[in-house]
Amino acid sequence: MKIPEFAQEPLFHPVEWLERWIKEAEEAGEIEPTAMSLSTVSIDGAPRARFVLCKGVSENGVLFFTNLESSKANEISSDPRASIAFHWPTLNRQVRIEGRLQKTSDQEADSYFQTRSRLSKIGAWASKQSRPLESRETLLKAVDDYSSRFNHDVPRPSHWSGFHLQPSAWEFWQGQEGRLHDRWTIQKSDGNWLSWRLHP
Ligand SMILES: Cc1cc2nc3c(=O)[nH]c(=O)nc-3n(C[C@H](O)[C@H](O)[C@H](O)COP(=O)(O)O)c2cc1C
Repeated sequence: MKIPEFAQEPLFHPVEWLERWIKEAEEAGEIEPTAMSLSTVSIDGAPRARFVLCKGVSENGVLFFTNLESSKANEISSDPRASIAFHWPTLNRQVRIEGRLQKTSDQEADSYFQTRSRLSKIGAWASKQSRPLESRETLLKAVDDYSSRFNHDVPRPSHWSGFHLQPSAWEFWQGQEGRLHDRWTIQKSDGNWLSWRLHP
């Protein structure tokens, strides 16, 4: 989008702004305050959306974890462009972010994997995410097999890691009465974030 002449420094740094809105959604009692719709580009160029959980927001971008052999991971390796949208109905807010996905470090994936429950760790081994599953029993059998294999610690499978969405554009949306909503777009220009309002 072309940057208008009246663009200014954003009201808040977008990373801090998003962190604050997630925290306020949590405080407002939102059930899944970190859930975000992630759209990738399919191998034949069509948009594909699904929800994932945001596990961190920093200068490196917006972080989520997944199976590296899933449909989404295959799509990301052929086209790293992606778009994320959060929606918090309780606060009548939305955030959109566009950018490129980059795989996170093994160290970051290991340290997040260790915080997961034992069953979630076993699940990461047992699930061949996005591939056909003959029956639920097949999945539960795989869970049993991996539970016996890993008596104590469950290591992170090499097919499980995370991605950062490195933002090139943000939009913060606050719903207002009469659909006269506030929209602030933020884009980078010469290394600095610039912001302007959009008509609702
Ligand atoms: C609220 C919510 C949160 C989810 N979080 C994740 C997640 O963090 N990582 C993940 O791989 N799948 C998550 N899922 C499942 C995905 O939406 C999706 O079904 C799965 O990742 C397979 O997607 P794919 O076939 O496009 O790769 C979540 C689903 C919901 C409804």
